[in-house]
Amino acid sequence: MKNLAMRWLEGWSAATGHPWTDEHGVIRIEALMASRRFEYLLVEPNDEEFDSITALIDGDSRDVVTVFTNKPDHYLVPHAGLVVDRDDEALMTCPLARTDSPVPDGFETQGFEAQGFETQWDDQGDRVSLHVIQGVQLAAAGNLAIVDHDVIFDRVETMPRFRRRGLGRFVMQSLSSWAIQHEADTGILAASGDGQALYETLGWQHKCAMLMFRGTEDVGR
Ligand SMILES: CC(C)(COP(=O)(O)OP(=O)(O)OC[C@H]1O[C@@H](n2cnc3c(N)ncnc32)[C@H](O)[C@@H]1OP(=O)(O)O)[C@@H](O)C(=O)NCCC(=O)NCCS
Repeated sequence: MKNLAMRWLEGWSAATGHPWTDEHGVIRIEALMASRRFEYLLVEPNDEEFDSITALIDGDSRDVVTVFTNKPDHYLVPHAGLVVDRDDEALMTCPLARTDSPVPDGFETQGFEAQGFETQWDDQGDRVSLHVIQGVQLAAAGNLAIVDHDVIFDRVETMPRFRRRGLGRFVMQSLSSWAIQHEADTGILAASGDGQALYETLGWQHKCAMLMFRGTEDVGR
């Protein structure tokens, strides 16, 4: 699990630009937001490891602890200075296979073109963003980064009024096709609850839970 979590971190950092450090096994990501400071990553930590990060944060609400685990109930108990921020996220993976269906044909045949949707790609070599727009409105979007043969998907989203029309599936399939053409063979992502429902229909597998905790004290505000 640690290996997979680190592969996700490498790709997520490449996709989002968040720098991270590993100092004596303490993995810390810079949040790059005024309301956030650091995000600490722990993989199935023992009680001592969990407590040492809790002590480091010292209740600061700008800090987040993310725990990758197959034993979520073990961690979902009261911890002094921390509250549960999210308990519905999961790390998922999917082997990517070549398809014969190029993206533009898929767009047309799925009827999106006829509904006035257009795609905009921002291709930066080993990172790409896809936006689906209708007129001036953003309908759906997704991002990815490729690291070695992994492709890490990030910020896949369909705007509320465009949901359940197949756009999320289209974005994932389009980004996957792009990644396959760039020699990626394994997809990795951190999925929200809604995201898991989508990704499961596309053959993705749940690998472990991702629990997020944050400090309880409004320090420095
Ligand atoms: C998750 C999300 C991207 C799905 O986008 P979408 O465009 O609505 O997804 P699609 O229409 O392509 O869904 C395809 C299939 O996935 C499944 N699915 C998608 N969203 C679902 C949901 N909320 N609940 C249950 N099943 C869902 C369904 O099987 C659906 O087919 P159906 O509509 O014929 O039943 C969208 O709900 C969203 O943006 N949520 C908020 C942001 C988020 O959580 N993003 C994911 C980050 S990992």
